[in-house]
Amino acid sequence: MDSIHIQGGIALQGQVRIQGSKNAALPVLAATLLTVEQSYIRNCPRIADVHAMVSLLRKLGCLVTWREEGLQVDSSQVCRGAMRGEAVKGMRSSLCLLGALLGRCGEALLEHPGGCVIGERPIDLHLWALEQMGARFSEEKGMIQGRTEGLHGARIALPMPSVGATENIILAGVMAEGDTHITGAAREPEITALCRYLQNCGAVIEGAGTDHLLVRGGNNLYGAEFTVPSDRIVAGTYLMACIGAGGCVHLEGAPADEMGAVLRTASQMGASCWPTEEGICIQASGCPKPVERLSTLPYPGFPTDLQSAALAVLAGAEGRSVVEERIFENRFRVAVELNRMGACIQQLDAHTVVVRGVRQLHGAEVAARELRGGAALVIAGLMAQGKTRVTGCQYIYRGYENICRDLRELGARIVSV
Ligand code: UD1
Repeated sequence: MDSIHIQGGIALQGQVRIQGSKNAALPVLAATLLTVEQSYIRNCPRIADVHAMVSLLRKLGCLVTWREEGLQVDSSQVCRGAMRGEAVKGMRSSLCLLGALLGRCGEALLEHPGGCVIGERPIDLHLWALEQMGARFSEEKGMIQGRTEGLHGARIALPMPSVGATENIILAGVMAEGDTHITGAAREPEITALCRYLQNCGAVIEGAGTDHLLVRGGNNLYGAEFTVPSDRIVAGTYLMACIGAGGCVHLEGAPADEMGAVLRTASQMGASCWPTEEGICIQASGCPKPVERLSTLPYPGFPTDLQSAALAVLAGAEGRSVVEERIFENRFRVAVELNRMGACIQQLDAHTVVVRGVRQLHGAEVAARELRGGAALVIAGLMAQGKTRVTGCQYIYRGYENICRDLRELGARIVSV
């Protein structure tokens, strides 16, 4: 199942259900380590990154079982152990285990985590913040070792709103002695989801969804039930696919209230979008309109995870757009592949590209090199005249349960081979 074949040029019609959020599920699964009881995490997406997190939890001694509606995690017997291998190196969210393991066991040994190849992705903020809470780190031969005699609360002012660092501080903070204040915290909905799960477990956290969080430590946490919210990035991917290919689709479960910046961009691109009781409807016809300047920003700004999808749509727009990436460098590697499909995307500097819309892309053989860039190539394939083959699809399956099935439900001619 390494490649996806697409016959492009067909407008999308119909309804598709949006899967559970990857970026919400992963830290919540790491957080199950903080209780000695059972948790039941519903609506967990069945994607490669979740399978990798499950294998790490099992390695730590948790009993993890897939049930019809989600994952049951019994963390009563957690053992210490080195976390290494593909499950860590290929997935940056394994970093969440650092805060969780320090909280639960007082030590953690983790291979330097990877994730998509979309920039340097340093981990300095994670280590610096956890050090302020009483952890000490050393790094040897690619392994990070963390230890603590006991975590304590701290006042942590993040110089940039890192999602992963905010999550790690929260995970350590609920187990620490005393209060932890985080200012400059990330406000992404996935952080709010993590706080909601921990609150269900008995943790006291104030300010979720704002840039100032207060985490009160020292409470015993119970097991809890939690439903992972729908994935705003998957919803945004299918929304962009509909704008690129044209048509009318209903995204069932799409979290409209978390997608303000995406919906505004969609309307600049000429699509009509409206929230329904259960999701979002999109209607798009004709060539997409260009966007003068699209900049990625921390939430509630336009998400970096949808920049590549937007780039694919703008590649086929009627005019010139500028796209600015402000979160990660290397997110423009997909431009080379889009250009092989007839796009005209020129990189001005590390953070900016100019897109001259070409009205009609053509099918080609292209390679995914990371998750969201891979999804953008699928969108370009739907927009293009003729056949497209996308290779490197293991990256796409890290975040999308079944992108081909979902798009087939919308009438696309697409198969994984
Ligand atoms: C998370 C998401 C990812 C999303 C990103 C930004 C998960 C599993 N992944 O990634 O999909 O694209 O948020 O919304 O939730 N930084 C540092 N030092 C650090 C940490 C981060 O300099 O220690 C920088 C990064 O290089 C980047 C910026 O901070 O420029 C934001 O990164 P961050 O928010 O931490 O992203 P992730 O949590 O890795």
